[in-house]
Amino acid sequence: MSATRESSIHGIWTSRWTFILAATGSAVGLGNIWKFPYIAGENGGGAFVLVYLLCVAFIGVPIMMAEVMLGRRGRQSPINVMIEQVKVVRAKKVWRLLGWSGVLAGFLILSYYSVIAGWVLDYVVRMAQGVYQGATAAEVEKSFDQLVADPYELILFHSVFMLMTMVVVAKGVNRGLERAVRILMPALFILLLIMLGYAINSGGFEQGFHFMFDFDFSKLSLDSLLTAMGHAFFTLSLGMGAIMVYGAYMPKNASIAKTTITVAGLDTLVAIVAGLAIFPIVFANGLEPGKGPGLLFVSLPIAFGNMPGGQVFGTLFFLLVTFAAWSSSISLVEPAVAWLIERHNFSRLSASALVGGMVWALGLLTVFSFNLAKDFKPIAGFNMFELLDFLTANLMLPLGGMFIAIFVGWVMRRRAVKDEMSMKSFGLFNLWIATIRIIAPLAVLVVFGFELYGRFGG
Ligand code: PHE
Repeated sequence: MSATRESSIHGIWTSRWTFILAATGSAVGLGNIWKFPYIAGENGGGAFVLVYLLCVAFIGVPIMMAEVMLGRRGRQSPINVMIEQVKVVRAKKVWRLLGWSGVLAGFLILSYYSVIAGWVLDYVVRMAQGVYQGATAAEVEKSFDQLVADPYELILFHSVFMLMTMVVVAKGVNRGLERAVRILMPALFILLLIMLGYAINSGGFEQGFHFMFDFDFSKLSLDSLLTAMGHAFFTLSLGMGAIMVYGAYMPKNASIAKTTITVAGLDTLVAIVAGLAIFPIVFANGLEPGKGPGLLFVSLPIAFGNMPGGQVFGTLFFLLVTFAAWSSSISLVEPAVAWLIERHNFSRLSASALVGGMVWALGLLTVFSFNLAKDFKPIAGFNMFELLDFLTANLMLPLGGMFIAIFVGWVMRRRAVKDEMSMKSFGLFNLWIATIRIIAPLAVLVVFGFELYGRFGG
């Protein structure tokens, strides 16, 4: 069996909506609910949020379109899409690296993503047991510190989450997840709104709101610029082939521009609502907004522990965050699994087992970086978790996205690109082409330049 213009050997989404659902499932995840609030907190709030929004709109969305387009054109795993496209236009073979670096980035990201998703799972259990009912802020903080200090507990839940991920990937994306996500994503959003309602009445809303939307540029370091841009790639699942492989399963007649904008819009909305739900609680309880990766796991349990019905809502909330993480994690390994099936005739099951096992082992680095190897900081003062996060979100994804933009904008034949995009308006098409040819790559380079200057020059 081989791929055609109409379908891939792995199947095809049932409709345009299923693609939107799956891509939104990939985009909306821990990045929105866990990472965005804590890095916004670490980087001073407002100005950081603004830069992130600008990056999503002017770099993220256009590159997302390019990635979906490339995937649908090739209808295969990103590695094979690149191999094929390089042949079609007789481009230099180095372009093939783009597929490979994406697979590597997916492995590295999932290795720590799964550990954090494990915390979420752990909190489902704790919430259900009512551990935080009536707890003070100090008690909740202490209990989080104890969790991450315990490697066995982290390994246990990391293993459970990896198993969950690989079971779905092994089954193929169509059957299990498509259906689940349809119900769970709206449910997550409703629960976030309930949390927002609580936050509005927490007494910290004004302060939280100002923290997120007062654009005070004196708080923005050069480092924060790169973090904001990197996060735009991370949250949209860009630069490593996840969105490309989902594009490969996209029906022929769906509009790439419209679906992409919908996905990016939903993703941004969830991040903003998550921030507005979390920061008021942070300020109302005198917590530190820059306290790092534990922010979500401390602020929300305090709120749930002290609101009527908190035990039920809290359990439900962390359960839904689990689902958001789950629908993202499968997209991190789908490129690798699809490639093993195409290239080496693996069954889906054995491909999933192999990939899952490798990522699981890699995840131990992150587990230990919170306890046994807390003080092991091999490079630039980063521990292993921070290093993996920086390497992937701040370097590999923006670079991957930039080269995808350059490939689509400069190397591919314009006719093929135009044909696949099938945009009705020439004006919009040309605007998009100009963005991926020049604006997006340049923006990425400028931000890298600032980072280098900030580290070595300033
Ligand atoms: N976008 C996901 C999130 O925000 C993470 C992700 C990154 C998924 C890259 C796939 C690829 O949680």
